[in-house]
Amino acid sequence: MRIPENVLKLLNEQFYNELYAAHIYFAMAAWFKRSPYQGFASWMQLQYKEEMEHAMKFYDYITERDEPFATAAVKKPEKDVFESPLDAFKAAYAHEQLVTSQITKIYDLANEEKDWVTVDFLSWFLKEQCEEEHNTRSFVRALEFAGDDKNLIFGVNHWAAKRAE
Ligand SMILES: [Fe+2]
Ligand SMILES: [Fe+2]
Repeated sequence: MRIPENVLKLLNEQFYNELYAAHIYFAMAAWFKRSPYQGFASWMQLQYKEEMEHAMKFYDYITERDEPFATAAVKKPEKDVFESPLDAFKAAYAHEQLVTSQITKIYDLANEEKDWVTVDFLSWFLKEQCEEEHNTRSFVRALEFAGDDKNLIFGVNHWAAKRAE
């Protein structure tokens, strides 16, 4: 049972999209490491690992279905430096929304092609994206609420530090 070629192409691209997401979070973690906000730094680093796991899910799926894997370049993130924690989390939230649209596009195509195994595989990612959007949006809201109050921003940073995995 082969994966339709057009679906396979998007699945392979999504491996690199997930690596790109990981790369973004890696850059954000590095930026936060040089700031007073070590809680945000560790949150971003955990998020980086999670994106690598997402990438590997696509890799494993492609190879387990005995399909060829195509290498490609990982895009360079747009920013290495951010204006504020809010700026970084706004970028993270916007990026998660973009990833949701990427996953939805593959899901639509797999449905169209009646590739039900891929549809089933992708349903985990749709749920995961709800969580990813919720998490990043929550930090945007909290940081917007904190405004310029350093004590409140530090409180949000402590909340981020509580993330276990
Ligand atoms: Fe992801
Ligand atoms: Fe994500």
